Amino acid sequence: MSDRGPHLVLLGKQGAGKGTQASRLAEHYGVIHLATGDVFRAAINEGTELGFEVQRYMDRGELVPDEIVIGVVREVLTNSDAVKRGFVLDGFPRTVPQAKELERVLADFPLDVVIDLDVPTEIALHRIAGRRVCVQCQTTYHVDNPPKEDWICDVCGSDVVQRDDDTEEAVMRRLELWEIQTLPLIHFYRRRGLLAHVDGIGDSEDVFESLVATVEVRMTEDA
Ligand code: AP5
Ligand code: MG
Repeated sequence: MSDRGPHLVLLGKQGAGKGTQASRLAEHYGVIHLATGDVFRAAINEGTELGFEVQRYMDRGELVPDEIVIGVVREVLTNSDAVKRGFVLDGFPRTVPQAKELERVLADFPLDVVIDLDVPTEIALHRIAGRRVCVQCQTTYHVDNPPKEDWICDVCGSDVVQRDDDTEEAVMRRLELWEIQTLPLIHFYRRRGLLAHVDGIGDSEDVFESLVATVEVRMTEDA
C-alpha cells in the first residue's frame, strides 16, 4: 500500500454526489479537495474579478471557458506542496482539452484512478431540486438532510441557501453539456486504463464505502 493519498478524479453528472463524496474522501485520506465549481462560487461571493468573469456562464448553466478554468487549476496545483500527499478533483476536468492540460500539469503526479460516479438523471434531478449549500464553506445539504439549526451551516455558521445555478433551465443546460462535453472523458480515461465505475444510488455512507474500496484496489495494484 502506498504511503500517500490517492491522485483521484471524480466524474459524474450534476447531482451525482461528487461534492458530497469528494469532501469526505479528502478528509478520510488527508488530501486536498479541489472543486472548480466551489472555487468559482467563492470568487463570486467575494466579488473578485474572477467571480465577475465566471458568473455569467455559471448562472446560465454554461461551462466556463477552458482557458479560465485551466488557469485556476494550474495555479492551485502548481503552488501547493500538499499535492504531493494526494488530491481529489471534483468537477475538473470536464472537457477533453482540460484533461489533456491536467496530464501536463500533473506530469510528476499521475492519476491513480478516475471514478465515474453513476446515477440516473431522475435521481440527480431530485437531488439537485432539494440541494442547499453554505454560502461560505460550500458544505452541501439537502431539504431531506438539513443542518441542525434553521439553515445555518453546521460547519461554519453561515447561511445555507439554494445555488443560483440550480434553476430548472440552468440544470437542464448543465446536464445537456455533460452529455456533449464530459461524457467523452469516460472514453478518454478508459483508453488510458484509469476508469472505474461506482454506483452513486443509495445511502451516502454506502456510496462512500464503495468509493474507498475502489480507490484502495487501484492503489494496491499501483504500489
Ligand atoms: P459544479 O459546482 O461542479 O456543479 P455541477 O457539475 O453542476 O455538479 P453539482 O455540484 O451540481 O453536483 P455534485 O455531483 O457535486 O452533487 P452534490 O454532492 O452537490 O459546477 C458549477 C458550474 O461551474 C458549472 O455549471 C460551470 O459553469 C462551472 N464549472 C465548474 N467546473 C468547471 C470546469 N471544469 N469547466 C468549465 N466550467 C466549470 O449532491 C447533490 C445533492 O444530492 C445534495 O443536496 C446532496 O446533499 C445530495 N446527495 C448527495 N449524495 C446523496 C446520496 N447518496 N443520497 C441522497 N442524496 C445525496
Ligand atoms: Mg458539486
